[in-house]
Amino acid sequence: MAKLFSPIDIKGITLKNRIVMSPMCMYSSVDKDGLVTPFHLSHYISRAVGQVGLIMVEATAVQPEGRISDQDLGIWNDKHILGLKNLNKEIHSYGAKSAIQLAHAGRKAELKHPIYAPTALPFDEKSIKPVEMTVEVIKATIEAFKHGARRAKEAGFDMIEIHAAHGYLINQFLSPLTNKRKDDYGGSRENRYRFLGEVIEAVKKEWDGPLFVRISADEYNEQGNAERDFIYFTTEMKAQGVDLIDCSTGGVVPARIKPYPGYQVKHSEVIRRNSEIATGAVGLITNGIQAEEIVQNERADLVFIGRALLRNPYWAREAANELGYDLEAPKQYERGWK
Ligand code: FNR
Repeated sequence: MAKLFSPIDIKGITLKNRIVMSPMCMYSSVDKDGLVTPFHLSHYISRAVGQVGLIMVEATAVQPEGRISDQDLGIWNDKHILGLKNLNKEIHSYGAKSAIQLAHAGRKAELKHPIYAPTALPFDEKSIKPVEMTVEVIKATIEAFKHGARRAKEAGFDMIEIHAAHGYLINQFLSPLTNKRKDDYGGSRENRYRFLGEVIEAVKKEWDGPLFVRISADEYNEQGNAERDFIYFTTEMKAQGVDLIDCSTGGVVPARIKPYPGYQVKHSEVIRRNSEIATGAVGLITNGIQAEEIVQNERADLVFIGRALLRNPYWAREAANELGYDLEAPKQYERGWK
């Protein structure tokens, strides 16, 4: 049997297979309100029909100033709950589980009002200069993640992922390239971890379900965090009760990245082995045999599929055919599935 299509239990939630729809911003909310639109419904539900085990909703802003653009999805207000709840109901009706990625863009917000970061350094010469966060602003932002978790629970999500990758706010605290603070939130590796550590604790006040964290496990810069730093961070996360590390890379500072098939899997493997925590692998995983190799060789517990699922909502069916696995069809499609 293909391990890719074997179920996995994470803190009492069973995924029917190891395939995750990777979080992907669709910039499709209208009227700057962060609400779910008919597009989001079609987009996520069609991948649930396509037998993806876990549908992860895109980076969703816990504060309006934490949006990348004003078309981002939001979870900063109770008015966001209903649309997400309706989405979850449909995702669940096809046997998939759902997750939401809680996010704050920090200095990578492209908005016209003040944007915030641990240190007042713009991403590049074309970017807006962020305002350095005071401790008060830091505490309010941590609270916003907590309220985001509460709303995610009310909306019926099965899992939460905290977005600590790609150079967004949490990653800006973790990296010595972007965090030059002199207080308790900057300097040593322990201090740079403090913000994420406090976000996790705040989320846990409202959420006792499966918790993932996405990290950028390579900053493509000699002065950035190194492997030993990521092993430290992820060991801390495990101690705090995080269930899975979703291992991506990059986005912290401008860098030239040359992706190749499975280019980030090695980071998942290193973290899984050294920090003894479940991991997800992502990045140019495009076919069933490649995905099967990753889970069989215990290089990751889950495979996150991004662009291949944009191209083909039935990617799971194609992967199953490649592996000779008889994947159950959604009941409406039984006559045309094989
Ligand atoms: C992304 N990616 C991404 N990552 C993330 O953590 N949160 C997000 O909201 C987004 N948004 C997003 C939008 C679009 C259109 C793309 C293509 C990508 C990154 C994505 O989840 C994934 O990590 C990468 O695309 C690499 O995986 P693939 O596409 O090679 O399978």
